[in-house]
Amino acid sequence: MELLLDTGNVAKIRNAMEYYPVSGVTTNPTILRKEGDVPFWDLIGEIKELIGPQRSLHVQTISSDADGIIREAGIIAERLGMDTYIKIPVDREGLKAIKELASEGFRITATAIYTELQGVLAAMAGASYLAVYYNRMENTSIDADDVIKNLRTCTNECGAKILGASYRNVSQVLSSFHSGAHAVTVNPDIIDKALYSPLVSGAVENFRDDWYSVHGEDSSLLDTL
Ligand code: G3P
Repeated sequence: MELLLDTGNVAKIRNAMEYYPVSGVTTNPTILRKEGDVPFWDLIGEIKELIGPQRSLHVQTISSDADGIIREAGIIAERLGMDTYIKIPVDREGLKAIKELASEGFRITATAIYTELQGVLAAMAGASYLAVYYNRMENTSIDADDVIKNLRTCTNECGAKILGASYRNVSQVLSSFHSGAHAVTVNPDIIDKALYSPLVSGAVENFRDDWYSVHGEDSSLLDTL
């Protein structure tokens, strides 16, 4: 299981890496737009440096034709390294580009997946990750869990990983894992909010009060040494 961050916000990435088991960062033009008019390569370069070589970086192409996508992939790999995952939306042109790039050794994250057919074809074309748009599917009455479950058969055979994406809440994230997603990419705000539970903080407070009542106010385990 993997947790990736679906954000281009450097401060959020830095903070989330400190607290959560983060294995990568995914971006797309919409996500990067939220950071304002920042030069693209500067921002992506900063994110790459911040996450280091152990975490994966997924960068999306813009062109709508296969030749353009392939040229952009070449530039991304040249500037950021061949270990960068090239995010390519799965339509006909995208599939052509995925097939070509995968055969040349590029790492591909197939994205904008709403249907099982898109996922199956992208996996067969050589994509490493299949970014399945959970919330957007739900918005259009497509059963996202069903798509994820069905894709498992093909990912087991092709070696691709299902990367759940487009989330509004942690229930959607957890459902994705239950259905067989190998990874999820989430805006850290969703996790932060879900962890603020009065039940948990109440339990933590009770444990602390019980300790203080025996060992003294504001004492810690170290004060017993
Ligand atoms: O990673 C895909 C994602 O960014 C799309 O999510 O929130 O625009 O539906 P959203």
